[in-house]
Amino acid sequence: MTGIGVLRPVAAVASLLACSAVAGTGSSTPAPNLRDPAVVAAGRKLFEERQCATCHGSDGNGGVKLAGLGDLDPADVFATIADGRVEGNLRMPAWRGVLSDKEIWEATAYVLVLAHSSR
Ligand code: HEC
Repeated sequence: MTGIGVLRPVAAVASLLACSAVAGTGSSTPAPNLRDPAVVAAGRKLFEERQCATCHGSDGNGGVKLAGLGDLDPADVFATIADGRVEGNLRMPAWRGVLSDKEIWEATAYVLVLAHSSR
């Protein structure tokens, strides 16, 4: 774990993110600064320790790819993680109640970084 790999994409994403926009997420916790490297690092840890990496790969390049998706709306990402999604035969589990809103925001911050990494 170098940390560098996380920090560089963060700088790239930083300029693209507006830090408001939480309408429609159902989050009771205001969004943290999703560009904060500490928030991204917490999200990365969670991503690897919970089952996220099982389906998505620890670098977002696993079976259900998150890498290379490009610009994602933070509120949409939060909502997908919180409420899950069904896509054909694939099911993204809902995490609301399993993870706190704060943790879901941290995972969101990491997903936004992954989405800007290359496939
Ligand atoms: C059981 C497998 C599985 C697990 C575990 C899982 N996901 Fe997913 N995830 C999926 C599937 C399937 C999709 C839908 C893919 C699609 O839309 O084509 C998805 C979609 C997503 C998306 C939406 C990407 C987009 O296109 O907007 C995000 C973000 C995401 N997952 C994050 C997470 C996070 C964070 C975790 C852990 C807390 C997690 N996933 C755990 C299977 C999983």
